[in-house]
Amino acid sequence: MEKIAVRGGIPLHGNVKISGAKNAAAAILPATILAGGKCIIENVPRISDVKYTLRILERLGAKVRVINKSTLEIDTAPLKGFTVTHELTRHMRASYYFLGALLGRFGKAKVAMPGGCNLGVRPIDLHEKAFAALGAKVDTEENAIISASADKLVGTRIYFDVVSVGATANAMLAAVRAEGRTEIENPAKEPHIVDLANFLNSMGANIRGAGTDIIRVDGVKELHGCTWSVVPDQIEAGTYMVAAAVTGGDVTIENVTPKHLEAITAKLRESGATVDEGDDSVRVIGGSRPAKCSVKTMPHPGFPTDMQPQMAVLLSVAQGTSYITESIFDNRFRYVDQLARMGAVVKVDGKMAVIEGVESLMGAPVQADDLRAGAAMLIAGLVANGQTEIDRIEYIERGYEEIVAKFRALGADIRYIKCEESTALTA
Ligand code: EPZ
Repeated sequence: MEKIAVRGGIPLHGNVKISGAKNAAAAILPATILAGGKCIIENVPRISDVKYTLRILERLGAKVRVINKSTLEIDTAPLKGFTVTHELTRHMRASYYFLGALLGRFGKAKVAMPGGCNLGVRPIDLHEKAFAALGAKVDTEENAIISASADKLVGTRIYFDVVSVGATANAMLAAVRAEGRTEIENPAKEPHIVDLANFLNSMGANIRGAGTDIIRVDGVKELHGCTWSVVPDQIEAGTYMVAAAVTGGDVTIENVTPKHLEAITAKLRESGATVDEGDDSVRVIGGSRPAKCSVKTMPHPGFPTDMQPQMAVLLSVAQGTSYITESIFDNRFRYVDQLARMGAVVKVDGKMAVIEGVESLMGAPVQADDLRAGAAMLIAGLVANGQTEIDRIEYIERGYEEIVAKFRALGADIRYIKCEESTALTA
């Protein structure tokens, strides 16, 4: 096992290229099942969540060919299976997309669901509601196998009382070949939802309104293979933006869609950073010390919940008291315990964290509690005095391609270390 060691205090400088979006690939790769032919997918991030998704596709019978380091050819013509066991889904929460894709292709799907994770209970009742509305019979069998089957899927009106990225995506996957029109009301509007809709349309689907308050899907008989490039990762980009700002650096983040980053840009400017937007890049110049500000996570286009832990690190060394309200998940402050080990002063009360900014953080042995918490620990290490060692880095590698190499190229003192090399006292 390895850890990541970071020695802080170095302002980041230079350029970093953003990879394809994890949360777009998580839906687009299973969606290739609907093509029943060959898709070429470009700008695929090399992260473990993609590795697990491809393993499931191959286990179902698809043929996956690596064309180059970020381009895959996926042929789902030979795909016959419709069952995904727990042995495969336990690594990756987003395996629920196989339910919608297999239901849309074969009219049946059996997928083992991973439990909740470190963000709290993560039910899939809205996904099941969407499938049932389209005419599917949905059951939970033993071993948490969700089964969905339908002789025929028929277009309908689906209203989500809670905005859900996963349920919105799954409703589209099941509806693209349903008979007639489906209207999805109060859908998620994240960039990865729009990317999925655009990908499905390039396969011959008929989806309009993705990114707005109503998504209309007119069912089609057949879908075909296509070539698609995954949208740049909004959250990876935001992670580097916060790191540049909090280290007082000057970093140009390339291969991004600035419009997708508007909420992050606005918050960083409010905290005193300079953010200049280019056509497909943003340049972030950090000030001497961040100013306090308050953050409330909201569905897109609001401030992304997946950027909440990273922003908490910046606010932990800001001047004054800041407030973070987490309105999407019911338990997304677990990382606060790790941040406190580095000297941060954060009080959590339900959905709100009150952060008293301190002059500086101190390096310490910490761990990643989940993907974005791990990224936050890395940013804390970049700004802390001394060395920080981050354990359980497998969480970070689920969603960040070459994160150590990318930060090292920006001047960070960061490296992998073997656990036995660790200088930290074992707990
Ligand atoms: C997606 O998770 C992302 N994962 C998450 O990113 C992200 O935090 C989240 O959307 C919100 O943007 C992927 O795209 C693979 P939701 P998802 O359904 O779809 C509740 C990361 O770090 N809910 O939008 O699971 C749910 O409990 C990960 O990249 C129901 O109640 O999130 C939550 O409170 C972490 N019933 C809220 O809705 C349901 O059926 C939003 O969840 C589904 C969700």
